Amino acid sequence: MAVGQSEANYANNSRLQQKALLKTKPVLDKAVRQVCSTLLPGAMVVADLGCSVGANTLLFVSGVISTVADGRHGNERIRRYPMELQFFLNDLPGNDFNQVFQSLQHFTKSIEASHPKGVTLPPFYISGLPGSYYTRLFPCQSVHLFHSSYCLQWRSQLIKDIDEKTAYLNGCNIYIAKSTPPSVVKLYQDQFQKDMSLFLKLRHQELVPGGNMLLTFLGRKNPDVRDGDLSHLFALLAQALKSLLTEGLVEKGKLESFNLPLYGPSMDEVKAAVEQSELFGIEHMELFESSWDPYDDLQEHDSTHSSPARGGMNVARCIRAVYEPLLAGHFGEHMLDELFRRYAQLVGRHLAREKAKFSVIVLSLNRIRG
Ligand SMILES: C[S@@+](CC[C@H](N)C(=O)[O-])C[C@H]1O[C@@H](n2cnc3c(N)ncnc32)[C@H](O)[C@@H]1O
Repeated sequence: MAVGQSEANYANNSRLQQKALLKTKPVLDKAVRQVCSTLLPGAMVVADLGCSVGANTLLFVSGVISTVADGRHGNERIRRYPMELQFFLNDLPGNDFNQVFQSLQHFTKSIEASHPKGVTLPPFYISGLPGSYYTRLFPCQSVHLFHSSYCLQWRSQLIKDIDEKTAYLNGCNIYIAKSTPPSVVKLYQDQFQKDMSLFLKLRHQELVPGGNMLLTFLGRKNPDVRDGDLSHLFALLAQALKSLLTEGLVEKGKLESFNLPLYGPSMDEVKAAVEQSELFGIEHMELFESSWDPYDDLQEHDSTHSSPARGGMNVARCIRAVYEPLLAGHFGEHMLDELFRRYAQLVGRHLAREKAKFSVIVLSLNRIRG
């Protein structure tokens, strides 16, 4: 994610991800209430995996605190068991945890102020936890609730590090596209299976029996893997990168060796991965759509309301905030402004033809006891 204080950073450009947090709040509430009422923990341990920085990080935390406070207010059984909350905010070590920590004092004051007098908030403690969620992060059976939003579409390795020769066969595509050979599609799909199976195994070890996990991530509505929403989005980014070849701003060899470490699975692929693991029961599963343009739900009189051209710029800013470090690391920083200027135009033209949407998969899982 783009870090620092700039206007282009992730914290200032995460409205798309915030919409998913708001949309999944009822599923989160249900998972929190289930943990409270069935496990009755004295201290409920909650971990957000891939927390990043900005308003979204603490939006999740405040959601859990409010649900527990409201539940205690109304539920006699829960009220009799005083509960404390321990939050672990996890992300890769490069995440700006200090920015999160610096906002905690203000957060504590504002969450107290936002609750009516008479509603007692549960005591809560917030810690940072750097590390990859594709490794063990917690002792055995020590976490009651895992949450992760807009993260699990990321693969654990770069595609060229898994199999460099095959990765080159994708030519100037940077993700799975219409012309992607079957061997490259298989590379992506196998890596998704491996990552998902590892992730489920690790979280199963760390969750207490009966614990819950709510996962929200980018997926694919269309069963055809070459024709998903991410394929369209990244075909346009590949087109923008390709247009920079002629001016020497991007080298052909660099473009041919670049494949995004992402995979948007279908609902069937996700379901199969969970069932094969035999570690979790599916409590809830849905796919909802979210416009590429994070601002397209605003009213016409709002200046960010999208004409297709405006929408193109909004999408380019959102994508840049997430992928800039990866692109800068591979191609260099010199071409980023021009790349995203061209990308905004291409997306704008695409949005003039159709209202493009992401597919977002929501998965609420219950750890099988034993
Ligand atoms: C698009 S952001 C989502 C952030 C936040 N959850 C939200 O809803 O706004 C994805 C985050 O996942 C993190 N991430 C990606 N792979 C990870 C891994 N293997 N372990 C931990 N965090 C990871 C990234 O660093 C990034 O902060």
